[in-house]
Amino acid sequence: MGQFDIQLPEDEQELRRRYEELKRLIHYHNYRYYVLNDPVISDYEYDRLMAELRAIEERHPEWVTPDSPSQRVGAPPASEFRKVRHPAPILSLANVFDDAGLDAWLQRLARIDPAVLETDFTVEPKIDGLTVVLHYRDGTFVLGATRGDGEVGEDVTANLRTVRSLPLRIPVRPDGPKPPPYLVVRGEAFMTREDFEALNEQLRARGERTFANPRNAAAGSLRQLDPSVTAQRPLRLLTYQIVVHDGPDAPRTQWDALHYLEALGFPVVEADLCPDLDCAKRVYRKWLQRRPYWPYDLDGVVIKINDLELQRRLGAVGKDARGMVAYKFPAQEVTTTLKDIKVNVGRTGVLTPYAELEPVEIGGVVVRKATLHNFDYIRDKDIRIGDRVIVRRAGDVIPYIVGPVVSARTGKERVYQPPTHCPVCGAPVQKVEGEVALYCNNAACPAQLSRNIEHFASREAMDIEGLGRKIAEQLVDAKLVEDVADLYALKPEDLLPLEGFAEKKARKLVEAIQASKDRPLDRLIYGLGIRGVGAVTARLLADRYPDLDALRQATVDELAAIEGIGPVTAQMIVDWFNRERNQRLLEKLRRAGVWPRSQKAESQPETQPLAGLTFVITGTLPSMTREEAKAYIQRHGGRVTNSVSRKTDFLVVGENPGSKLRKAQALGIPTIDEATLRRLVEDPAFREQVLAQRGKSP
Ligand code: IVH
Repeated sequence: MGQFDIQLPEDEQELRRRYEELKRLIHYHNYRYYVLNDPVISDYEYDRLMAELRAIEERHPEWVTPDSPSQRVGAPPASEFRKVRHPAPILSLANVFDDAGLDAWLQRLARIDPAVLETDFTVEPKIDGLTVVLHYRDGTFVLGATRGDGEVGEDVTANLRTVRSLPLRIPVRPDGPKPPPYLVVRGEAFMTREDFEALNEQLRARGERTFANPRNAAAGSLRQLDPSVTAQRPLRLLTYQIVVHDGPDAPRTQWDALHYLEALGFPVVEADLCPDLDCAKRVYRKWLQRRPYWPYDLDGVVIKINDLELQRRLGAVGKDARGMVAYKFPAQEVTTTLKDIKVNVGRTGVLTPYAELEPVEIGGVVVRKATLHNFDYIRDKDIRIGDRVIVRRAGDVIPYIVGPVVSARTGKERVYQPPTHCPVCGAPVQKVEGEVALYCNNAACPAQLSRNIEHFASREAMDIEGLGRKIAEQLVDAKLVEDVADLYALKPEDLLPLEGFAEKKARKLVEAIQASKDRPLDRLIYGLGIRGVGAVTARLLADRYPDLDALRQATVDELAAIEGIGPVTAQMIVDWFNRERNQRLLEKLRRAGVWPRSQKAESQPETQPLAGLTFVITGTLPSMTREEAKAYIQRHGGRVTNSVSRKTDFLVVGENPGSKLRKAQALGIPTIDEATLRRLVEDPAFREQVLAQRGKSP
């Protein structure tokens, strides 16, 4: 069975027993990993259990049930979702927006049942995702539905099965309580912001349509007709309510219900227990503060009467449960009028459209501009000048236009045409095959030049204090600089005619510019603004090449061989150095004395003992972290890759190795420890001997 050497019991009864045990074990280890984030076995051991399970299922396909951990991969596509009637109405919530609204809610309830004045409350974050309703029969997950209209939802069982933290069988913990014969749990399916960005990145790379926000991405993934697509989507789950508990000893309070769900093995929302609403208000503010940094979108808190019997007695108004209320955070989405669409020219010549808005407040900040991402976005969303548009500002990100309110159109809106010429220099606009962006390719375009200077002077680059966007524009407009090297020729008297410059300011700026000559090489490389070269890549380059001369001579292959640099970036770097204009720039920088040499690359050994060798690292090494080991190998000319293949020369093995060890053994790739790695570098005779065995000339 693949990379594992698996012995199955001969005896059928024994095999069956082992099969059940494996299912239990894997469910438990999934739970440790995905719910508790605290695995107790290595990936290797986990893979081995899975391989054993699969081997048994191969021999006995008739034993496989939908709750087997092997079934999370995704069932065949459906043509539509079956409708499911919920066992009880799946209610919604009323909203309040301030403390007074919250107080009024409780006073209304007190008139219906004064007992509410005696009870306590749970306060939970309100996750901005989608309700899911999960049914368990005798502990097995049998059905999962969307909310729909609250009476009837859609059967998305196959999709939900792919969500790793969703228990397929409970109890998941060996010491967990036994579930009742029938249990229905409500929770939220959602996506983290980071996962959402990564998903969009992937979709974009494949030329597919991206999602506007994490909630849409979660909804789109949950309502996928092909569960194998959902299986690839990073959906998460948190539960917060028991809808049906058909058995004895049902929890009597919401607080107990949350702990009970946790004990059964569900991922559960984090909650506070509050004796009164003052406490609830404090918890609200705690979440409001956390919100910008929280990994997923929250749109408020839910305050719930803790006593479930009292909650039940209070009933519902229409579709809203009376005994709970959503205390919403200030809106992150508002509508306003799109007055005009303007175009910004970036440092690399990319044209980016942005919206000029009728000023509007979102979460305490007045917003006048919002990004429109790119020209395809405007066309795909059919955003027109004069439209009422939905503007969103989430966390600390720049506001963006979600889309138009089509129903508010008057007929006076104008369809927008992307520019054919650069709005700043008038050069014809270019489109690169396979990219959505439009470019101004005029390297002398003043907009690009001033952005370039701004970038060059920025803190992460040459860190020239006082040189921001405005002054960069002034310098370009006054024709004082034609490239970043010209900065170093500036004298205080050149600056005096500029608006806002007196003697002191002019002198200080010139001093700051001169002081930047000493910045390390990686800052300079980053500051040059080569497409694809961010601060991290710049550091990799400066670690490898002692100065810009050495870097200029690098070939695409050589650059792409550096761990962390791909062929596309490598090509962009070479293209940049090949451009005549940039060669002139380098000469000017050298003459101006802006020519740092990199310490690290210089201290590199002359001979590269590991040149031509490819290593993979697994497990914990005794004296180096994995990153340090990687850097050590690279410094001595070797390559480090992440997975073992026939091209791997050595697997460096530490404690608790992962599945890579098995793979290397299967492929006959030699394994070495840290000491041997060091000896390979330091002891030429030893190296020669080992390489000769490998059939490699030293
Ligand atoms: S309780 C009777 N608790 O918010 C209502 N809902 O606006 C029961 N939500 O449809 C819902 N986090 O999708 C509850 N901790 C939480 C929640 C939560 C998110 C969602 C849920 C609900 C919507 C109501």
